[in-house]
Amino acid sequence: MTTLFDELKLRDLTLRNRMVLPPMAQYMCRGQDGVVNTWHLVHYGARAQGGFGLVLTEATAVAPEGRITPYCAGIWNDTQRDAWKPVVEFAHEQGAAIGIQLNHSGRKGSSSHLKNGAVDVADGGWQTIAPSAIAYPGYPEPVEMTLDDIKRVKADFVSAARRADEAGFDVVELHAAHGYLLFEFLSPLSNKRTDEYGGGFDERTRLLIEICDEVRTVWPANKPLLVRVSATEWLDVGWTVGRTQKLAKLLKDHGVDMMDVSSGGNVPANIDAQPGYQVWLARKTAKAGLPVITAGLITSPKQAKRIMDEGGIDCIAIGRAALRRPFWPLWAGYKLGVPADQMPYPEPYIRGAFPERKPSKSE
Ligand SMILES: Cc1cc2nc3c(=O)[nH]c(=O)nc-3n(C[C@H](O)[C@H](O)[C@H](O)COP(=O)(O)O)c2cc1C
Repeated sequence: MTTLFDELKLRDLTLRNRMVLPPMAQYMCRGQDGVVNTWHLVHYGARAQGGFGLVLTEATAVAPEGRITPYCAGIWNDTQRDAWKPVVEFAHEQGAAIGIQLNHSGRKGSSSHLKNGAVDVADGGWQTIAPSAIAYPGYPEPVEMTLDDIKRVKADFVSAARRADEAGFDVVELHAAHGYLLFEFLSPLSNKRTDEYGGGFDERTRLLIEICDEVRTVWPANKPLLVRVSATEWLDVGWTVGRTQKLAKLLKDHGVDMMDVSSGGNVPANIDAQPGYQVWLARKTAKAGLPVITAGLITSPKQAKRIMDEGGIDCIAIGRAALRRPFWPLWAGYKLGVPADQMPYPEPYIRGAFPERKPSKSE
């Protein structure tokens, strides 16, 4: 039986365990220039020290108009690339692998980082683009992308992946979830195109597949490529888990090594977000034959262990619980009785803190 503490090999990369920090937007590039700073070094650095096997960055824009908010991180120029380098190096010094989530925000770009809704152009916002001129409720109408726009966005993903490699990242994750551009193409609710990028399943998945193929020409063959997808829109119509399975099968043949399975975000829907509510979506996706990460209200070590014990899941993402507790993986080891010398404690901590006692009932 696979445990949270087992290694996972993806191409030439070995993750030291199955605990993943999922992408979490920080909106902390204060110059509105997409350049990460000491906030990001400390935020990601703490979680790398905290024992995560894989630290994934926030949605990082491949172009200025691909940011979600004016304060999002970017990797569309060399200054941004170089600013990521210390973050990557520090994660590596802690023994964590680090991946960058590459994103284009599509019709959900130009958002405010403080409230729901858009930022006006006068206040640093921009005209958004999308597969079709259909607005996300509460947002301005996007402009339908031309074939030249599609070509440019593909080139932007490729340049971003090349810079991610130059910055030393171990993993690229393409963000095709939560109603951002790549998911907008997947869903028949946001994609009403009549050219080769709209219509049936093959047309709607074309952009993502082409981006995987083109990214693979610059992203080294020994490094894993991940795709995050919304497995369902939680409606009877739109993108469904059956389509996600079919997509995962296709992605397997286009250089993708693992699926990061989430849900929703493209249209408003009622989601019954109970603890672990997305685990079944990841298990269904895994049937396509690729390893999967599951995320969503997994908060306690016992709950994470149970999900692993029940099988069909390769990695567990700990998001908000790791905002409260950056050292979640080390704490999980402690709670689940893993000897400290088998956990990736930073050197100074292990020197002073051990031998340790067992956790008490009240802890
Ligand atoms: C503050 C915050 C920012 C997020 N930003 C992103 C993001 O940039 N990209 C993404 O794919 N998901 C994002 N998510 C979703 C998380 O990756 C994760 O799937 C979600 O929080 C559910 O996991 P949790 O219950 O463990 O937090 C974000 C979530 C939070 C709380």
